[in-house]
Amino acid sequence: MIDIHCHILPGLDDGSKTLEETLGIVRQLQVAGLETLIATPHVIEGTDFLRAEEILTAVEQVRQAIAEAGIPVKIFPGAENYIFPDMAKWVRAGKLLTLANTGNYILVELPMLEIPHYVDQVFFELQVEGLTPVLAHPERYRELFHEPERLVEWANKGILFQLDLRSLSGRYGPQSKRLAETMLNSHLIHFLGSDAHRVSQNESVDREALQRVRQLLDEETFEEVAVKNPQRILEREIIMTNGDYELKIIENIKGKRRFWDLFRK
Ligand SMILES: [Fe+2]
Repeated sequence: MIDIHCHILPGLDDGSKTLEETLGIVRQLQVAGLETLIATPHVIEGTDFLRAEEILTAVEQVRQAIAEAGIPVKIFPGAENYIFPDMAKWVRAGKLLTLANTGNYILVELPMLEIPHYVDQVFFELQVEGLTPVLAHPERYRELFHEPERLVEWANKGILFQLDLRSLSGRYGPQSKRLAETMLNSHLIHFLGSDAHRVSQNESVDREALQRVRQLLDEETFEEVAVKNPQRILEREIIMTNGDYELKIIENIKGKRRFWDLFRK
C-alpha cells in the first residue's frame, strides 16, 4: 500500500528530527503495510520557505539510509503545501513540489479553523496549470464538520481527497472521525496517508485504521484508494472520477457500533 502523506525527512519540518527517528517511523509504516511512502514536509510561503532542492536532497539521503538498514520501502519526494493566493504562480515558477515530483498532483493543506475565501480560486488556477489538487486530510478542517457539502462541490470539480488514517482512531476528535467515516462511506476518499511525524506510541494505530477503512469500503474501492490511485500518481496517469458524488450519511454504514458496543470500553 502507498502512503501519500508523511513527515519522515529529518530536520526539515516538525516531523522526524534525526535519520534514526526516520528509520523508526519508516519501519513502523512498513509493518502496517505501507511499503511506498511519499515524503511530504510542510512547505509554507515566507522568507525561509522549504525549497524543492532541499527536499530532493533529503529524499536521496533517506533512500540511502533505508537501503543500508535493509528496510524494503520506497520513498518518493513531495510536499504538503499550505495554501496561499499565489500558489499557481509559484507552481509555474517551479518552486513547489508536486506529489512524487511528477508534475500532475499537488498536495494542498488548508488552515484548520477557517477555510480561506480564495480556496476555490486557487484550486481553479492550479487546474489551469494542469495540476490536480489533492486536499490533505479534509476530515480535519473544522468548518467542514458543519458544511460537508463543500466537499461534494469540490469533488465534483475534480479535487481529490487524502484521508489521514489516524483520524479513524479518534486522534483528531470525534467530529473528524465521523466526517472521515462519512467520506469513506460516500466514496469521497481517493488516497490514504499516515501523516506520521514521529515514532508512534501505539504500534498498531495504522494497521487498525487500515482495517477500519477495509470495513467501510468494498474490496475494489479499498484497492483503488490504498494502491491503484497512488500508483497512478507515480506513473503520471490521470485519475478518472465520475463527478457525481453525494454525501451518504453515517447511519447505515457497515461496521456501525451496536448498542452493546457502547459498554465495552
Ligand atoms: Fe501533514
